Amino acid sequence: MANIIRRPDWHIAQHLITPEAVFRNRRQFLKQMGFAGAGALAASLSSQAAELDTDKTLIDKARPKRATYPAKRNPEFDPKWPLTNEKVAGNYNNFYEFSLGKENIAALAKNFVTAPWPIQITGLVEKPMTIDLQELVETIGVEERVYRFRCVEAWAMIVPWTGFSLSKLIDKVNPKPEAKFLRFETFNRPQEAPGIILRPRYPWPYREGLRMDEAMHPLTMVATGIYGKPLPRQHGAPVRIVVPWKYGYKSIKSIVKIEFVAHQPNTFWEMLQPEEYPFESNVNPAVPHPRWSQATERMIDTDDRVKTQPYNGYGNQVAQLYKKA
Ligand code: MTE
Repeated sequence: MANIIRRPDWHIAQHLITPEAVFRNRRQFLKQMGFAGAGALAASLSSQAAELDTDKTLIDKARPKRATYPAKRNPEFDPKWPLTNEKVAGNYNNFYEFSLGKENIAALAKNFVTAPWPIQITGLVEKPMTIDLQELVETIGVEERVYRFRCVEAWAMIVPWTGFSLSKLIDKVNPKPEAKFLRFETFNRPQEAPGIILRPRYPWPYREGLRMDEAMHPLTMVATGIYGKPLPRQHGAPVRIVVPWKYGYKSIKSIVKIEFVAHQPNTFWEMLQPEEYPFESNVNPAVPHPRWSQATERMIDTDDRVKTQPYNGYGNQVAQLYKKA
């Protein structure tokens, strides 16, 4: 039983703590009601205040408005391909923080707390910041895009992501000229993610990286939703990266930190098996994985086997990034 965390009775889960805005609103409310300073009413006030703390309407009002899901689909990214069945996609996941299995991630991630979710943006930038995901979404705005997604394990899906181009976020922080790569990092909270405890030798937290020109490419997306809803935990709630021309392991989930760096960063899978999972990892049917062919892929809902395309079908948009000068 060594890995079971026993919390004391008085423990309050992070998501149940009164948000500061609600606390302030409550004081404002009491003031307006003429209650401030009325010492004789102190006892009844504290019980009213306790009720107000749990008043869901007030909490919802105090929070910034949720981004609208479903977001409008951007016609530029609406290829009219048949979408992968949502249930199948949501029950066939890679998320090693929870398990090496694919079909149990949704269940294992039930206690994973995804709000509030501050993201630290740091490193070689003029304007570093830590911003909560909700605020980021409201500042930048989201849209829907349909992308193909190809895992290095030769399975594939077609899904509608909600989010925005990573370039919009990059523009907000003004990278310095020395910034040549971005390094992304996933949360690392073993008490919420059993896979981290089960594999102590893996180089947690999961991390990934992109070259600056790859990160700035309009196809590279910060995704906050899928199938018209906020991302469910198993798909990388509440925010992940999607790079549709690369194998799926580059599309890092549940990110807490983005760092601008001068040199190519170490990545999780590259640290474990560099010859199998290199940094660049563009989808390429002509280059087999050391243990299997990459010529075809299996669609996860229909089991159809289809030909894998160079750059996962996005060659017209991205091939020029890899032309040697
Ligand atoms: N991100 C984190 N933090 N942990 C992971 O295990 N797996 C990657 C990628 N992002 C992974 C991750 C792999 S191998 C794939 S194929 C995709 O997530 C799967 O995304 P999906 O489960 O939403 O289909």
